Amino acid sequence: MHLDRGAAETDAVDEDIQASLSADHGGYHFGPPAFGRLPNRAELEGFDAELRSHRSLPPGVVESLELLPSDAVPMDALRTAVSALALYDPDAGDDSRDANLRKATRLLARLATAVAALHRLSQGLEVVAPDPGLNHAANFLYMLRGERPEEFEARVLEVTLILYMEHEFNASTFTARVIASTLADLYGAVVGAIAALKGPLHGGANEKAMDVILEIGVPERAEAWVEESLRQKKRVMGFGHRIYKTADSRVEVAKKWGALLGKQLDDTRLSDICITVEEVMRREKNLCPNVDFYAAPIYHMMEIPIALNTPIFAMSRVVGWSAHIIEQIDNNRLFRPNSRYVGATDLEFQPLDRRG
Ligand SMILES: CC(C)(COP(=O)(O)OP(=O)(O)OC[C@H]1O[C@@H](n2cnc3c(N)ncnc32)[C@H](O)[C@@H]1OP(=O)(O)O)[C@@H](O)C(=O)NCCC(=O)NCCS
Repeated sequence: MHLDRGAAETDAVDEDIQASLSADHGGYHFGPPAFGRLPNRAELEGFDAELRSHRSLPPGVVESLELLPSDAVPMDALRTAVSALALYDPDAGDDSRDANLRKATRLLARLATAVAALHRLSQGLEVVAPDPGLNHAANFLYMLRGERPEEFEARVLEVTLILYMEHEFNASTFTARVIASTLADLYGAVVGAIAALKGPLHGGANEKAMDVILEIGVPERAEAWVEESLRQKKRVMGFGHRIYKTADSRVEVAKKWGALLGKQLDDTRLSDICITVEEVMRREKNLCPNVDFYAAPIYHMMEIPIALNTPIFAMSRVVGWSAHIIEQIDNNRLFRPNSRYVGATDLEFQPLDRRG
């Protein structure tokens, strides 16, 4: 069974879906947001202090992560880490709004620690304890490398984390909301969201985009590379978007900070490749780059392994996921879409021993 998106019936199906949402289910109403306003200075400082206090992983979680194979795909290991974190959360059995806010805060603080710890364990290195004197981005780089980062570098990472933090009804957020709508717990919804984010058509694109940029190698090769890929009907990862058809509003910000980082490192090669690829993709396919295409080279310039690109996306997007999960639970209705069967209707039942 599948939703029929064939040409003739598309409009009718869309109308049916609209009708079924509004008439049968009353539609889905989202909001109001958790607090409905930005924090004042005291609230922000309080939240920041709380985040810093929750960064350490429970020892049982670290022991579980130590048992994972060193060649585990980081996104798979991160999904496992979140499952393990759930088992050690003192609010695990409490699904009240206050408990969910507490769980979301701990998860945000600890996901960055988990990404850094998983990487170090996979390299046979000691896990680095968080430094409460550093902000979220700087502390992540410190836990990853065991050295305090330069302020500018931490700021660039922070900018990408802000860009990735929330993005409406993307596939992983929708996954989280569907899981939350069954009244399953917040951790379970985030585990599902991580599984959805891994796919290369969604968050995994920020790893595949880097492969593209490295394969091109030098700006002079970019135009011919794109033309040949398109001729072979290949997808250029980091381009296209289901919603953005003219521009991804996050791109200009990532592009600017990537260029600044390149200048600081005295190597603008990656930015130059990206700009040429963007020009050719617009000219040939009228497709715009998405944020992944410009975030990936930023992480590469920071010498972060490509396989951590999507986990870094996850440790930021957990903010949006959590907010959506809490919002869903505040005003819940089980997601249960209709589908329309479009296959044969005249099939006769054949007993098993007559099926050839
Ligand atoms: C994101 C994505 C899945 C959106 O897909 P969509 O809106 O469903 O668009 P479609 O898959 O229907 O593609 C529409 C057309 O654009 C083409 N297209 C879309 N993205 C393309 C890409 N990255 N490279 C080359 N062609 C692309 C398709 O081949 C199709 O062309 P056609 O009409 O000639 O067959 C798609 O653009 C994609 O696969 N991008 C690469 C992965 C990526 O960067 N994902 C991160 C998204 S934030």
